[in-house]
Amino acid sequence: MRITILTGAGISAESGLATFRASDGLWENHRIMDVATPEGFAKDPALVHEFYNMRRKAASVAQPNAAHLALLRLATHHDLTLVTQNVDDLHERAGSTDVIHMHGALNRATCAECGHGWPAPMVMTPEDPCPACGKPATRPDIVWFGEMPQHMERIWQALEASDLFVAIGTFGNVYPAAGFAQHAGRNGATCLELNLDTSMNAADFDDQILGPASRTVPAWVDDICRR
Ligand code: OAD
Repeated sequence: MRITILTGAGISAESGLATFRASDGLWENHRIMDVATPEGFAKDPALVHEFYNMRRKAASVAQPNAAHLALLRLATHHDLTLVTQNVDDLHERAGSTDVIHMHGALNRATCAECGHGWPAPMVMTPEDPCPACGKPATRPDIVWFGEMPQHMERIWQALEASDLFVAIGTFGNVYPAAGFAQHAGRNGATCLELNLDTSMNAADFDDQILGPASRTVPAWVDDICRR
């Protein structure tokens, strides 16, 4: 079966990484607009670097949980495309390869001047020179609000070719990811949601399994790998 999975912050919650909208538009005590927009970065690059330095450190000590591990097993039984909105590398550290990071990755850096990309050091500062052009224009390779998500061509194609689309641990209010279920459904896929609570776009799914990802994902994978 051809399956496209979209994961969100909920799959990493039980690994100890904070979700985005746990309370009042704050993310780890920062306003999202201050730390996740190009305007916020232009205003205070040191604050934004410091914020992602902390996220990078937290992600590096977090461990993949049973849900990340279950998706590795799924890939051995089905033709899987794994898309994540998460910037952590817990899918990779669970053993998944070819993970599509549509919102970028904490462990990557990029140059705002020349577009060069390289592995991010644990601590980044606004003064860091780009290894290619030398300009102090380095930034985390993270897609901020108002910027274009990455790898979209490949993702739309996978959705259109899928028999099954599954969203795991995402609230369903940030586009284009929030439109994936509708797009896959229109192209003939069955759509399933695994989430702790009902999401914003629950009506776009044929079925829903509610509960913590570390429990629901392994159980669902067991089931679909038996078929
Ligand atoms: P959110 O923080 O908006 O939503 C997290 C979702 O996970 C909610 O639906 C929760 O009910 C669910 N959840 C929480 N704990 C869970 C658990 N243990 N098991 C299963 N589900 C659980 O995160 P996202 O939807 O991923 O974008 O956020 C989407 C995007 O908005 C992010 O990628 C980021 C953010 O702003 C950018 O940075 C561009």
